[in-house]
Amino acid sequence: MTQKIIILDFGSQTTQLIGRRVRELDTFCEILPYNKFPKDDPSVIGVILSGSPYSVHDPEAFSVDLSQFVGRIPVLGICYGAQFISHTLGGRVEKADSREYGRANLETVDTANPLFKGFEQQSQVWMSHGDTITRIPDDFQVIGSTKDVTNAAFWSPRGIWAVQFHPEVFHSLQGTLLLKNFVVDICGSRQQWSAASFVDTTVAELQQQLGQDRVILGLSGGVDSSVAAVLLNRAIGSRLTCIFVDHGMLRKNEFRQVMDDYKVLGLNVIGVDASEKFFSDLAGVTDPEQKRKIIGRDFVEVFNAEARKITDARWLAQGTIYPDRIESLNITGKVIKSHHNVGGLPKEMNLQLCEPLKWLFKDEVRRVGRQLGMPEHLITRHPFPGPGLAVRILGDITPEKVRILQEADDIYIRGLREWGLYDDIWQAGVVLLSTVRSVGVMGDERTYEHPVALRAVTSTDAMTADWAHLPYDFLARVSNEIINKVRGVNRVCYDISSKPPATIEWE
Ligand code: XMP
Repeated sequence: MTQKIIILDFGSQTTQLIGRRVRELDTFCEILPYNKFPKDDPSVIGVILSGSPYSVHDPEAFSVDLSQFVGRIPVLGICYGAQFISHTLGGRVEKADSREYGRANLETVDTANPLFKGFEQQSQVWMSHGDTITRIPDDFQVIGSTKDVTNAAFWSPRGIWAVQFHPEVFHSLQGTLLLKNFVVDICGSRQQWSAASFVDTTVAELQQQLGQDRVILGLSGGVDSSVAAVLLNRAIGSRLTCIFVDHGMLRKNEFRQVMDDYKVLGLNVIGVDASEKFFSDLAGVTDPEQKRKIIGRDFVEVFNAEARKITDARWLAQGTIYPDRIESLNITGKVIKSHHNVGGLPKEMNLQLCEPLKWLFKDEVRRVGRQLGMPEHLITRHPFPGPGLAVRILGDITPEKVRILQEADDIYIRGLREWGLYDDIWQAGVVLLSTVRSVGVMGDERTYEHPVALRAVTSTDAMTADWAHLPYDFLARVSNEIINKVRGVNRVCYDISSKPPATIEWE
């Protein structure tokens, strides 16, 4: 039985980060809404209560019945989680005179307590709260204090630990050690959740689940669908049929290169060049939403036409990963995002859904890919939007504009690789401003052509992103090369907007 830690989500922005940190300790965990603690699951070895945007005194604040787990398994409350424990068990939580935000140091820390084993005095922690705990409940003891926060960490022999700071964030320098002390020493994780164990158990489960059935999977060239395909291929071999649709708006040479990669990996792939259909349906369309709709509709049509040919298929596999499925809470406590749906599958085929990566975070998907021996360039590939370069061409789409963008994009991405910048960036691409023209001069000739914008962002999950601070020398080189080599472009800009308020893609 796979041991697991349950993380109850009270709506904090860092809840997912807690999950990733626990997984980094080779321990499985699930993130669930605060009121969905699983009853009678003997595999649960510990519970973590997350932070929250609420104060415990807000009438609509989220609350959980602690008796479901207190005394049975160890509990760790983080920030709001700590305040909630204190408030509910007889302590006192009050508004802090000033919001406690940012770096602080543990002036005193009880290293005899298992939570702080190996901690240094003065260890730096990250605070972010508007309330503070002025009295801890009776059977608790303080085990850590900062200059301003006496009850920064406290503990009860009933197996409850609580910290007002955020061990999951990078700025809590010994935060990983704290979580390891909790997960491994206190909860007793055997740390058996690894890429190798995942591959072994998942392959066995897939064989059991799928038997002799045939499975269809849509490949995009991206990391998730590729890893899902290789995993399924290991489990059921040629009973997996992959379909890779070329809508004509992939990167330069990408369709051919990715098909070659897939063949080397031994996958049974049907490549469908449907670019003419997409270009003809998109002709003259300039509205971003309409472009997306047409591409989505055409994609389903082309995919389904191929899928229908595999008459004995029973399953549709998808590379859905855990962050796509985590039920995130909005401020009212209602679930705002749950499982995303498959769009428009041929109903008469009656396919069941198979999602072998549904428990993995992105970095785990990459580790599984390496474990499966996939080439590094497939594993570290940046995310790429489903509608492809269509959302990076402002205005209507023509094959010529796509060609211009592909050339510029190819110079940029190759440059990022050559300069060793590619792997530090979440995602990069070029945008063609085909509705704009500006004057330039080349040799003795006046030019009147389009600008392109380079985009590169750093991010951990694409929900927020910052523009990457690329070196000027690199930007100068790429700009020169694009203007000299790509006919149709006479100006290069660099997009320095973060998300929010901008988005990563321009359309
Ligand atoms: P935005 O532009 O919303 O993008 O900041 C966030 C991330 O999602 C990708 N993206 C898409 N991916 N189909 C996809 O599969 C789409 O329609 C789509 N639109 C945006 C985008 O590239 C970025 O990684």
